[in-house]
Amino acid sequence: MKILVTGAAGFIGSNFVYYLLEKHEDEVWALDLLTYAGNLKNLDGCKDNPHFHFVKADICDRENINKLFAEERFDIVVNFAAESHVDRSIENPGIFLKTNILGTQVLMDACLKYGVSRYHQVSTDEVYGDLPLDRKDLYFTESTPLHTSSPYSASKASADLLVMAYHRTYNLNMTISRCSNNYGPYQFPEKLIPLMIHNAQNNIPLPVYGQGLNVRDWLHVYDHCSAIDLIIRHGQNGEVYNVGGHNEKANIEVVKTILKILDKPQSLITYVTDRKGHDLRYAIDPSKIQKELGWKPKYHFEEGIKETVDWYLNHQEWLDSITSGAYMEYYQRMYGNR
Ligand code: NAD
Ligand code: TYD
Repeated sequence: MKILVTGAAGFIGSNFVYYLLEKHEDEVWALDLLTYAGNLKNLDGCKDNPHFHFVKADICDRENINKLFAEERFDIVVNFAAESHVDRSIENPGIFLKTNILGTQVLMDACLKYGVSRYHQVSTDEVYGDLPLDRKDLYFTESTPLHTSSPYSASKASADLLVMAYHRTYNLNMTISRCSNNYGPYQFPEKLIPLMIHNAQNNIPLPVYGQGLNVRDWLHVYDHCSAIDLIIRHGQNGEVYNVGGHNEKANIEVVKTILKILDKPQSLITYVTDRKGHDLRYAIDPSKIQKELGWKPKYHFEEGIKETVDWYLNHQEWLDSITSGAYMEYYQRMYGNR
């Protein structure tokens, strides 16, 4: 099979490309615009694989996307390409609407035009909004209403609605996955876990928003990849699948775990001004994908987070190449006066 993976030089996309090449004999086409978040170094380990092909392209560039689809005739398209950071969406929503919504439309139009048999939209649990901290009995299911908080989550929810509309109106063969927060190798250090690892390593204060009590449901990126792989091959046309491993942690707990693994003092923690509209708690009910597709996560958080910290320690050059230049400007802008 010929599979197009968009956003393939980003965090989850690159992990998914490695997953596909390891588990299957498919021809894998990795597409990425290489924005600040896309890094070709993330794909270094597969550049000599004869089943791997890289294309630099913008999913919003209709002409170029149509040309690629006409030439390559993909069987499956998996769309990871997106602007993905909530804090950046609060600063500048426009690019989120363009890439996350209009880019999705361009890809789906190409799927219809060139007879792609399955379009998969990588969505997020953030489309459901948040749950209260004092109702541990509540979880997001696939039928929880969409109720977004940030421009990022609103753009992802809009894309989901558009994907469903293309299914109903034009019979697009599609699936959607909505996963909880991922951690693991190759994550850009603007996100909680790699940012805290990088700061702790360098004895820079660890900026915890608010009181650090917001809860996220963490899943190792490998387990997200295995879920998407199952969905694109065995998922039902037109269905949404929630993906999560029942691993809820308050942010402060995650930060303290990282400090402990790195043997750094808790005095590095600094509480800073909270994120605007900060979602309180995410918690996924994954029973549908477990029952229908037999998906099970491989990682427990305790071993996954240790392995992840080790990965960043062993990839110092990768981290250094990202955390200089534009990253420093971003960091100063975001945290300088917080
Ligand atoms: P990321 O920011 O690390 O990667 C996004 C990639 O998309 C980058 O390589 C970037 O260069 C590329 N890209 C951006 N605009 C593009 C465009 N116009 N054309 C082509 N490529 C473009 O993000 P990630 O964390 O790997 O997330 C990937 C997907 O998974 C996103 O759709 C995100 O909403 C979703 N998701 C992420 C998480 C998480 O915890 N990180 C959880 C659930 C869902
Ligand atoms: P993040 O990794 O940005 O993912 P998301 O907002 O998509 O869940 O943030 C995870 C949590 O960590 C979120 O509650 C915000 C918090 N956070 C901090 O406290 N400090 C930080 O510097 C960052 C980046 C996030």
